[in-house]
Amino acid sequence: MRILAIESSCDETSVSIVEHGTIVRSNVIASSRAAFEKTGGVIPEDAARRQVECILPVIHQSMDGIVASHEEIDAIAVTKGPGLLGSLLVGTVTARALAQIWNKPLIGVHHTLGHLSSTWLGTENTDTPIFPILTLSASGGHTDLWLRTSHTRGKLLGRTRDDAAGEAFDKGASMLGLPYPGGPAIGKTATDGDVNRYPFPSPLQKEHTLDFSFSGLKTALRYTIRDTAFDPLTASPNDLRDLAASFEHAICRHLCTRITQAIEEHPEIREVHVVGGVSANTRLRAMAREAAKDRTVRFPLAISYCTDNAAMIASAAQFTVDEHGDVAFDAFETTASLPLESAIH
Ligand code: KG4
Ligand code: ZN
Repeated sequence: MRILAIESSCDETSVSIVEHGTIVRSNVIASSRAAFEKTGGVIPEDAARRQVECILPVIHQSMDGIVASHEEIDAIAVTKGPGLLGSLLVGTVTARALAQIWNKPLIGVHHTLGHLSSTWLGTENTDTPIFPILTLSASGGHTDLWLRTSHTRGKLLGRTRDDAAGEAFDKGASMLGLPYPGGPAIGKTATDGDVNRYPFPSPLQKEHTLDFSFSGLKTALRYTIRDTAFDPLTASPNDLRDLAASFEHAICRHLCTRITQAIEEHPEIREVHVVGGVSANTRLRAMAREAAKDRTVRFPLAISYCTDNAAMIASAAQFTVDEHGDVAFDAFETTASLPLESAIH
């Protein structure tokens, strides 16, 4: 199928055309992130207003030169949740209108299933991933660990009990005087830093669990800043670099410990995939390769497939049709808080 997908769950408006779940014909992303640099985070009403401004031009741009008309599109897919309600509504209302006017089937996709599918994007000329797959999905809104036996089947092994990994990067960056979004800013600042200079705890170390917790790392950073009288305005570049590197390393170490644990508990795992905005992180990629031992490790093939994008939504829609048939076209509601478990069956 050739699917046109819309993703508008947060501060990105993205429209994509994908064939067979893997061949990305277009993936246009308009981000209002720069507008939130000063506020240090997304303001939901502003994000929704920007979605309204962007949605139609982004649809046009995504189709332009790729398809001659809507006749060449087989189905429409859209993120149904979770996310910011106003932003989600702009996407789903538009998708419903297009499906009605163009007479196309409509597929509502769980945002997380989109991230889980993102490692297939652009793989049409490479070897195909092999299930069972352990997928670590780490983003600004979620951090979870999945054991999948097919694209849409499997179980949730662990989830964050408080902040998401990306949120830890974003909040940490703000404490260090770095811009939003914090992940790329910390990644850049931390390059070549000494990861051992500032000690950070290992979260939930005493428990036998595959869950995550990042709030303790955030608190530890706050105490380190206080105890060392670190001031972002006057700090030496070396101190800033080493503190950013130590904090980044602690987040990555926590994520990667879970990869190693999950493989030990589930030796049938063939591959390890790391997806979501945080999977763009260079240090995480290196550490995940080590943590996965001899398993094949994959990340989304482009950085634009790590952070929110509509191509992954089209891919997830295709795999849902492949594995569940017409159920994929069932009516759905637009929901801000969709349970994580409902991402897969
Ligand atoms: O997947 P995404 O675009 O949106 C959500 O679904 O949340 O993820 C955004 C998150 C932000 O918290 C951002 O700081 C983080 O991903 N991020 C990174 C990097 N690029 C984006 N974190 C660490 N290193 C990066 N290079
Ligand atoms: Zn996301």
